[in-house]
Amino acid sequence: MIYTESFDGTDMEVKVAKSAGFCFGVKRAVDKVYELIEEGRTGIYTLGPIIHNEEVVRDLEEKGVQVLSDITEADVKKPDVVVIRSHGVPKSVYDFMKERNIEYLDVTCPFVKKIHRIVQKESAEGKHIVIIGNARHPEVQGICGWCEGPYTVIEKSEEAEEFIKQNYDSICVVSQTTFNFIKFEEYVEILMKKSYHCRVVINTICNATEERQSEAEKIAKSADTMIVIGGKNSSNTQKLFEICSKYCSNTYYIQTLNDLEFETLKFTGCVGITAGASTPNNIIEEVSKHVRNEF
Ligand code: F3S
Repeated sequence: MIYTESFDGTDMEVKVAKSAGFCFGVKRAVDKVYELIEEGRTGIYTLGPIIHNEEVVRDLEEKGVQVLSDITEADVKKPDVVVIRSHGVPKSVYDFMKERNIEYLDVTCPFVKKIHRIVQKESAEGKHIVIIGNARHPEVQGICGWCEGPYTVIEKSEEAEEFIKQNYDSICVVSQTTFNFIKFEEYVEILMKKSYHCRVVINTICNATEERQSEAEKIAKSADTMIVIGGKNSSNTQKLFEICSKYCSNTYYIQTLNDLEFETLKFTGCVGITAGASTPNNIIEEVSKHVRNEF
């Protein structure tokens, strides 16, 4: 679905992707933290920034919410409540908190929780777990932490080619929820070149991501300029930028309106706007209004 806004008197059209911005899991996580604040709770800590968006994290900080970079810091900082964000965490983090009786609020996205359950079960049954995703991403690190046996993270096609040289009997393949669907299919095809005693492949890419990526691609194909809004550390925004740049050479990656250098920009034709899963609606609206009014 695409919102198209055409404006009389200009030769410019603005298309804002309907799937831009907070997904269900991120919205749920952020809402829960604000609910804790409204309940008057103090000593709220999130384990890592609640989302990859500096604006939101700053607002929460101003309201007293602090960030633990590692759960072991809880021993020193003594939080009243720890919020587990939508990315999820390894099983060892729950064990750590339970051992110390630390109160926690778990807002792991249910789609990520489902992957934890899959890898835990399949690895307990003896399968080698293959996670297609970015090994440095907290979601993937969380998934790894639910495997009860060996696992491999594959981010590039060469790594998939290397993997099939190993002699694993049974494998189970899952994906980071925000991974690029085309690449996932490509890597699975490589893994299919080898025969296994048992091979389970589960596409765990979240629909919200697929939808956002395919809508971005569709808009980018017809746009003269694309604006991708999101935190610089947000991997799903980086992927959107990658997709949009492929189809529209004039693509900008911004965090907020301030990053658009208006003095040097000239928008004409069709301007497409999309945003990552952790971009608040007010930022998307601000950018689209500005583009519409200023150009
Ligand atoms: Fe969950 Fe999908 Fe968002 S996995 S956190 S709803 S991108």
